[in-house]
Amino acid sequence: MLSVVPSPVIVRAPSKVNLHLGVGDLRDDGYHDLTTVFQALSLGDDVKIAPSDTLAVKVTGEGAADVPTDRTNLVWKAAVRLAHLDGRAPLVEIAIDKGIPVAGGMAGGSADCAAALVGLNELWELGLSREDLSDIAAELGSDVPFALHGGTALGRGRGEKLLPVLSRNSFHWVLALAKGGLSTPAVFNELDRLREVGDPPRLGPPEALLQALASGDPHQLAPLLGNDLQAAALSLKPELRRTLRAGVSSGALAGIVSGSGPTCAFLCDSEDAAVAVAAELSGAGVCRSVRTASGPVPGARRISDPSGR
Ligand code: C5P
Repeated sequence: MLSVVPSPVIVRAPSKVNLHLGVGDLRDDGYHDLTTVFQALSLGDDVKIAPSDTLAVKVTGEGAADVPTDRTNLVWKAAVRLAHLDGRAPLVEIAIDKGIPVAGGMAGGSADCAAALVGLNELWELGLSREDLSDIAAELGSDVPFALHGGTALGRGRGEKLLPVLSRNSFHWVLALAKGGLSTPAVFNELDRLREVGDPPRLGPPEALLQALASGDPHQLAPLLGNDLQAAALSLKPELRRTLRAGVSSGALAGIVSGSGPTCAFLCDSEDAAVAVAAELSGAGVCRSVRTASGPVPGARRISDPSGR
């Protein structure tokens, strides 16, 4: 009997910016309790999953040389986890085409992991619900559930406990990609150190920011953006101060370090304004390259046409 080899599945997953990232004290398990508001952005990665003789990971695109292709990659862990659940061998090639900056504070590795979970669920016809996938996602990494969920969401716990947030309109962003990355644990450690030697200000609750999101007005939202990790990222990469200043003098409404950085995210009042800010910022010599993006966009989802990010 002829066995039919299933066709490859292509999944697109979004990057994220934290509009509000309140970091609590270090927990006994090495994590920090967070109160965060995530927004999924149109800058994304495409992940193609095809049947193969062995488990293999390939990476192309933005920063590909810095992405591991072995068992330390979260997509490898996702394949092993789902194969184990289904009692099969993880015989797939996972090809990641990166648009999200590597080690940039935009959850690129988590996006790829979410894409792999969605793609393998389809390729292997596992029939897992979004809720099942979300539970597995949370075991694999704190930001993976949000990459599945997409949109705008309030995150608690390690960031993995999500509630959807009402957000009107699209918001327009400029992203300044830095030379080199920052390790997320190193940035959390630096915040712990800064808190031991001083008393850096902590964000309050995000209620006003949630109201601004519901209003859909970027002018209301801009002054409320905040990130407790920003002080730590700036302490490790002081040159980011210049980047943040340059974005605002180029016409952005506000700029913040994205997550653990070093990418800086600038909120603009329209798509045209974002294009103008991006042009000026790329000429200012304060970053490696510049992208525009909009949000919110959906979480990891199967696509038929990989053209155009
Ligand atoms: O969950 P994930 O493996 O992506 O987290 C990477 C690292 O980031 C953790 O090992 C921890 O050092 C830090 N982290 C944290 N608190 C969180 C999320 C991540 O301290 N809520």
